[in-house]
Amino acid sequence: MAHLLSTSYSVKFSSGCKPSTKPLIQDSVVFPKSVTFQTSKTPFTRLLLQAQRSRSNCTVCATTLSASREASNEPSQGVHQSSSEPSKSKRVMVIGGDGYCGWATALHLSKKGYEVAIVDSLVRRLFDQQLGIDSLTPISSIHDRLRCWKALTGKSIELYIGDICDFEFLTDAFKSFEPEAVVHFGEQRSAPYSMIDRSRAVYTQNNNVIGTLNVLFAIKEFGEQCHLVKLGTMGEYGTPNIDIEEGYITITHNGRTDTLPYPKQASSFYHLSKVHDSNNIAFTCKAWGIRATDLNQGVVYGVITDETEMHEELINRLDYDGVFGTALNRFCVQAAVGHPLTVYGKGGQTRGYLDIRDTVQCVEIAIANPAQAGEFRVFNQFTEQFSVNELAALVTKAGEKLGLDVHTTSVPNPRVEAEEHYYNAKHTKLIELGLKPHLLSDSLLDSLLNFAVKYEDRVDKKQIMPSVSWRKIGAKPKTVAA
Ligand SMILES: NC(=O)c1ccc[n+]([C@@H]2O[C@H](COP(=O)([O-])OP(=O)(O)OC[C@H]3O[C@@H](n4cnc5c(N)ncnc54)[C@H](O)[C@@H]3O)[C@@H](O)[C@H]2O)c1
Repeated sequence: MAHLLSTSYSVKFSSGCKPSTKPLIQDSVVFPKSVTFQTSKTPFTRLLLQAQRSRSNCTVCATTLSASREASNEPSQGVHQSSSEPSKSKRVMVIGGDGYCGWATALHLSKKGYEVAIVDSLVRRLFDQQLGIDSLTPISSIHDRLRCWKALTGKSIELYIGDICDFEFLTDAFKSFEPEAVVHFGEQRSAPYSMIDRSRAVYTQNNNVIGTLNVLFAIKEFGEQCHLVKLGTMGEYGTPNIDIEEGYITITHNGRTDTLPYPKQASSFYHLSKVHDSNNIAFTCKAWGIRATDLNQGVVYGVITDETEMHEELINRLDYDGVFGTALNRFCVQAAVGHPLTVYGKGGQTRGYLDIRDTVQCVEIAIANPAQAGEFRVFNQFTEQFSVNELAALVTKAGEKLGLDVHTTSVPNPRVEAEEHYYNAKHTKLIELGLKPHLLSDSLLDSLLNFAVKYEDRVDKKQIMPSVSWRKIGAKPKTVAA
């Protein structure tokens, strides 16, 4: 691996700090105080204090050297291009690019020829430290990941480490990189995390809503033509007893007809933060002419993409614990380690799902086909819908084929949600723009299960059961991990 670790990096300081003139070897890059790993009796309070402290300090951003810019002045608005070959170089800022979806997307866009910059506070790694959990897969530091990518492909990805709730930091990143599109994955994305206690609920809404608001102001101030591609969630809609449309519904009421935003019925403080984001984005599209695509994403499964499987140092994270793990990924890891599949309640909860290879494809399609100025476009980003019981049955069948002894257990539902309900959500707009879905197949389940078996020694079985209750959330800071 030593040959992959030779890329040198420079460090950029945001305004108010003295610039460093000498390039640094990556390992010596100083992390901002907000990502110093510490344990404490009240770890969350410390996170907030550190975050507040870091916001008044200068922010250190590491960036790769020699990113060539081929800026184009061609208008991009409304031009529908092939998703596979962008006709011009586009600078895409991937906020949250060290996370599960963001990492795979950043590599995919870089491979496709886009100039990519990752913006991330690395707070997701801090959550792991605080909760005593870890990804199933051993993930390298963001710096090692980027060095490896550069060594393998010759492509540089710029890196800005900082918190987008810090507007000064975000401003510097915008002015420095001048993005033509921003893909915004950079939020606290776990519903259970937002329901641990009051401080996590407040943190989630503050982080997500203010972060997105800052992105909107940065676009208004420094990149009016920039296309915002924002990750929302299908969970914003809830489970209404009628079909779910893509963002808007036409209603006739008392003889008058209008097309209105589809009603939202979010079911956690996390999902509510996404609804607030959507409202803020819709408003700024109308008021300021911002162009935006809200991708209401379903539950993502899988770990491998063409790019992340190029080298073990590019491996993506895979969460299986009760706080960050999502349904299908969790079941595969449970099957691999001989833990019964944990179905919450009756198991009739039905949601939209998609392969991570389709997440990266959908984002690229959205970038290649930008929204018009002033347009707030909503795509439902999933490919198939399953109930939890259906997923458990599929994983049981696939596990038995591999010789695993798979059982299912029903555990009391920690969430407040319908356990049997109607669900039919539209998802045609991305298909119309060229999405070629990877549907859930036996071979994908085989490979996911084999992946889980490969890393089974890293599984901490104590983290599997749900530990956060929607009904028992309280104001007192709570320690989750044993
Ligand atoms: N994973 C899924 O199944 C799923 C489903 C639907 C929607 N989504 C949405 O997709 C997005 C990405 O999800 P993911 O699973 O990759 O999450 P993730 O937690 O793995 O990644 C999020 C990244 O954003 C960073 N981040 C968070 N707050 C930040 C801030 N204020 N400033 C800078 N960086 C910040 C984190 O450090 C992390 O690297 C989220 O918005 C999530 O709501 C995910």
